Amino acid sequence: MIQLTDEGQSYATNGTPEAQYVNALVKDEETLKTDVEAKIGAQLAKIGFGKAMKNKWIKIGGDKKEKVTRCVDKIEDKDQDLLASYVANKEEKKHDKKVVEQMKKRQLLAIITEKTFKVTKGKNYAPDFKKLPTTLTAEMIRTGEWKNVAFKKQNWNASGLNPNGGHLHPLLKVRSQFRQIFLEMGFNEMPTDKFVESSFWNFDSLIQPQSHPARDMHDTFFIKNPKMCKDVPEQYALKVKEAHEHGLEGSRGYEYDWKMDEAMKNILRTHTTAVSSKMLYNLANQEGGFKPMKYFSIDRVFRNETLDATHLAEFHQCEGVIADYNIGLSHLLGIFTTFFKKIGIDKLKYKPAYNPYTEPSLEIFGYHPTLKRWVEIGNSGVFRPEMLEPMGLPKDVSVIAWGLSLERPTMIYYDVKNIRDLFGHKVSLTSTKKNPICYIQEIEPKATLSPADQKVADEVEAKLSKQ
Ligand code: PHE
Repeated sequence: MIQLTDEGQSYATNGTPEAQYVNALVKDEETLKTDVEAKIGAQLAKIGFGKAMKNKWIKIGGDKKEKVTRCVDKIEDKDQDLLASYVANKEEKKHDKKVVEQMKKRQLLAIITEKTFKVTKGKNYAPDFKKLPTTLTAEMIRTGEWKNVAFKKQNWNASGLNPNGGHLHPLLKVRSQFRQIFLEMGFNEMPTDKFVESSFWNFDSLIQPQSHPARDMHDTFFIKNPKMCKDVPEQYALKVKEAHEHGLEGSRGYEYDWKMDEAMKNILRTHTTAVSSKMLYNLANQEGGFKPMKYFSIDRVFRNETLDATHLAEFHQCEGVIADYNIGLSHLLGIFTTFFKKIGIDKLKYKPAYNPYTEPSLEIFGYHPTLKRWVEIGNSGVFRPEMLEPMGLPKDVSVIAWGLSLERPTMIYYDVKNIRDLFGHKVSLTSTKKNPICYIQEIEPKATLSPADQKVADEVEAKLSKQ
């Protein structure tokens, strides 16, 4: 549809500038240019003068060319007629396309699209808004109303709202999956809700000598207030003291004076093994006596570390503990095969290690298929009799255990390079929102161990059975 601009409209009514210029003059009568300007406006006069000259409708006179004279009787203002014809008929099809285009270029008109709607009463027309029910209710079935009720139409194409809350942090996503794996394997979760622990459970019960460097201020956070824990099981503590000082039958102990004061010092737990130890003590001393048990925990621990790209003073540990009759290293290896397959690690290697509370101790390495290299993934071992006997666990009960950090696998799954991007005040909440759900690819567990693992397991078994 053609719509004249303000300029076009004024030309359609009053004529083009050149026509207005000429109409301001009387034939053959000299008029001062400035008079014309005053009459029709300076701007219009300027445009009109040029075009009227070109059309030879006027001529210039006077000494200083300051006058104009009209030299024609009648003029034909074609553009005005054209513009007027657009007002009379707005349909562009009815006019010369080229001319319309030119007028558009001169900004005298615009082509616009006009949409019209016809609104009429529909078949469900009602003067008042009625809210239609969206769901079928028991009431409707009871009353039979369901037969006649008109339901609100469902929009199955709606994309739904993005929830703007309740996003799990990547560490929590991995934690929930690890927890699921442990539960599938029949493990019970340990209560790890206390971050403050006594040195007794964190170190002494784990047969870690009181002079051990890990118990230094530089490695452990000591609590100032309250400095000491309330109590430790006394009878058991005495046995722990004995084990530290003189060992058990067949071992010498550390040969030093074990001090209760040192054991009672409160600290932020440095590993979740503190909780495992307390759970084992409870297991040995529970009503009805010891029963085989599988425990796990995934929670926070604290170390007085120098902070860098891969270390923080607090992190999360994931720990598994199995207490049963006549189990040993081979079972530990077997469990690893299953557990690590479930978290997507197929190839495992072990390196002898040292922990005060396990013998033997193994560092666990896993082959990372995307990083294409071996990465250290955990630490493990068989708890020493020096730790278990004072607790009162039956002599033929062994406890195998392992621990790994939650941060390491999370960083690998989510490709996080700096630990500060994962944990602490610098973590971007947006990244937490945008992170996909963590899909850990479980590798099909084989019914048997790999030949290499089987060989190790057999050898260990044979050796153990000779003892
Ligand atoms: N507590 C050990 C650590 O902090 C892990 C571990 C748990 C090792 C159980 C052996 C047995 O690294």
